Parts: sequence; structure tokens; C-alpha cells
Amino acid sequence: MLTVCTKVVVPYDNSELSKKALETAMMLAKQDERIELNVITVIDVTGSIYYYGNGDPVREAQLKEAKEALNEVEQKLKALPNKIKTYLLEGNPASSIVDFVKQENVDLIVMGSRGLSGLKEIFLGSVSHYVVQKSCCPVFIVK
Ligand SMILES: Nc1ncnc2c1ncn2[C@@H]1O[C@H](COP(=O)(O)OP(=O)(O)OP(=O)(O)O)[C@@H](O)[C@H]1O
Ligand SMILES: [Mg+2]
Repeated sequence: MLTVCTKVVVPYDNSELSKKALETAMMLAKQDERIELNVITVIDVTGSIYYYGNGDPVREAQLKEAKEALNEVEQKLKALPNKIKTYLLEGNPASSIVDFVKQENVDLIVMGSRGLSGLKEIFLGSVSHYVVQKSCCPVFIVK
């Protein structure tokens, strides 16, 4: 087990399925305390035409919300003896996740099939679809 997935990443958007993905990753981590858990949230700045960088009220609100959600995650993960890290990134969520995975030598991604968007007809959301296609490591899709 450990040789296959020492470093596990959960891309986290605070959706119900990303919470479920986190639970699944915690379950895996409980199998061996040498498994490291990384939780990453990407603030999507690509869709905003009014993006002003530092001082932008929309960005500030998104950052605040994401920080609060990651604090909750950290509280939850404290129960584990494993090494835990949370990251807050800015950019395009799909490509940021794939770049992170490549740079950090991640062994396994655990993520939701869908996220915050309400569209249920399609099985995979755009972020999970992109990550499954482009990531260099296995992806565990929670549904
Ligand atoms: N901004 C993000 N940061 C980190 N992880 C994310 C982010 N957005 C989505 N994810 C991860 O991807 C999973 C699937 O979400 P995705 O965004 O692909 O679906 P969706 O929101 O239903 O559809 P779409 O965003 O394409 O309209 C989530 O459960 C979560 O694990
Ligand atoms: Mg989404």
C-alpha cells in the first residue's frame, strides 16, 4: 500500500463530494501513519473579468471563505497522527491541481466526481474530468 501511495492529495472545494473524498482519504491514511495527506483548494480567478488582484473585494471574500473551510479541514485532520498539509492556491483549478501533483510527486489523488456546480446530468465535472485525463498519477473518484 505505502509503496503505491505515500502522498495522497485531496482537491477540496468544500462541496459535499469533496467532503466525502476527504473522509475516504482519511480512511486510507488510517491504514498507515506514514501516508502524508495534502488538501488543496484553488481559488478560481480565471472566470472573473473584474479581477484586480490584491485588494479585490471578490477575491478577498473567496480567500476568506476558503481559509475558513481549510481551517475546518485542519481541525478534522488533527485526529490523525499522519503528516498533514493544506494549501490555498490561486489560478485555474484544473490545471493548478495537475501542476501541483506533478511538482509534489503525488502518488494518489482522491476527489469528488462533481463539485459545487448544480449540474447533475454529466457524470464528471470539468475539474475532475481534466484531472483524470491529465494527471500523471492514479485518481480515486468519489461519487
Ligand atoms: N477550486 C477547486 N479547488 C480544489 N478542488 C476542486 C475545485 N473545484 C473542484 N474541485 C475538486 O473536483 C471535484 C469535482 O468538481 P468539479 O468542479 O469538476 O464539478 P462541478 O463543480 O460539479 O462542475 P463544474 O465546476 O465543471 O461546473 C470536487 O469534488 C473537488 O474534489
Ligand atoms: Mg466546480
